[in-house]
Amino acid sequence: MAIRKIVTKEDPILRAKCRTVEKFDEKLWQLLDDMSETLYKAQGVGLAAPQVGIRKRIAVIDPGDGLIEFINPEIIKKSGKQRDIEGCLSCPDQWGYVVRPNKCTVRAQDRNGEFFELRLQELACRAACHEIDHLDGKLFLDLVEEFVELAEEA
Ligand code: NI
Repeated sequence: MAIRKIVTKEDPILRAKCRTVEKFDEKLWQLLDDMSETLYKAQGVGLAAPQVGIRKRIAVIDPGDGLIEFINPEIIKKSGKQRDIEGCLSCPDQWGYVVRPNKCTVRAQDRNGEFFELRLQELACRAACHEIDHLDGKLFLDLVEEFVELAEEA
């Protein structure tokens, strides 16, 4: 496993639409392992492949209760609303209030290509929506209603 470099918001890859994954091979598994290691090292909640320079529809999230890997994810159902402060590993030091659905159902493939559906709520739903946006070249900055200053943690 290896830590990958996280690109920042100036990088045009973050505005690109990512390609569907068709090969579920060792190269994909290596990337997934590297992405989760990179996510934990950065202490983030989610990471999408374009953030490590790969234009493919892959994301990992860990909303606090374990890692979830999404390949070719789609939100097939959403309901409710939540408004909370959001950030992004590619936009260091920027935070703001974003409205997201409170619940969603994601359909995706796992690392072996098997389809699954997952119902998510609250932070997990927020993280999935944020990461899936990345796969379409969208950043949370576009959705911020109000930016906030967060004090550096000691
Ligand atoms: Ni992000």
